[in-house]
Amino acid sequence: MTDWDVLGGRAPVGIDTTVAHSARVYDYWLGGRDNFPADRELAERIITAVPDMRAMARANRDFLGRAVTHLVTEGGIRQFVDIGTGIPTAGNTFEVAQELAPECRVLYVDNDPIVLTHARAIFSSHPAGRTDYVLGDLRRPSEILTHPVFERIIDRDRPIGLLLVAVLMLFEDAEDPWAMVRTLVDALPSGSYLALTHPSGDFAPAEVALAVRAAEQARVTLVPRPRAQVARFLDGLEPVGPGLVPVLGWGEVAPGTDVNAAYYYGAVARKP
Ligand SMILES: C[S@@+](CC[C@H](N)C(=O)[O-])C[C@H]1O[C@@H](n2cnc3c(N)ncnc32)[C@H](O)[C@@H]1O
Repeated sequence: MTDWDVLGGRAPVGIDTTVAHSARVYDYWLGGRDNFPADRELAERIITAVPDMRAMARANRDFLGRAVTHLVTEGGIRQFVDIGTGIPTAGNTFEVAQELAPECRVLYVDNDPIVLTHARAIFSSHPAGRTDYVLGDLRRPSEILTHPVFERIIDRDRPIGLLLVAVLMLFEDAEDPWAMVRTLVDALPSGSYLALTHPSGDFAPAEVALAVRAAEQARVTLVPRPRAQVARFLDGLEPVGPGLVPVLGWGEVAPGTDVNAAYYYGAVARKP
């Protein structure tokens, strides 16, 4: 039973269920139950455009797990800021990190109050570590960085793993998501990492264009970007592993994998 069931299917305060929201659309693709008719309608319309969308959402989610594993085991990271957290599902950041190092701390940031309805799941930290949540907007990174909960959870003097997984495509170029990332990265101490994923039309332009049109009609911003524009998010950072590659090609790749089967790029990069 989810917290959503506990609420008896009623929308938590602050949620407009008549408009699709990226967190709930993504939840639907991952097989979750925290979504409404408007979310399901858009999710299905995108599946019509991109038939393997469910598998692609899982591939993106799996990248998150591999990136966090890499940061804990190879990068020595013990604290994470996960912006655009999403609705809790299997393999949440704190579960992956604390399984490897129980003292890990995770600060979640999301602008969808429905994530708060999962407080029990989010806050069930290993006693050696900590997790907390900020209802915040990536459009205002300074507010995230100066939030009192950020101060409580994150030690600014120790390297941080900043996670921006499947969230940057929700901003138009005119909103300058590169500046949002720059503000955050500038605040990280040396030795910190940024892990990101981003959908791209490079893999299948016609399918992705149809998905963008479906999102537009549902008043949801969806901006897939060519690889060169995604690479700009990593300016000044040193990519580790294979660099900026299709998410299915990052980390250990099983023989025979078609790495272009999920239309997301992913990268993990270190701040020198
Ligand atoms: C597609 S989901 C990705 C979830 C998770 N990062 C993953 O990849 O599994 C995008 C998330 O970004 C959140 N989000 C959307 N706009 C945001 C904003 N302006 N600030 C913070 N979070 C935002 C959504 O609520 C949603 O939870």
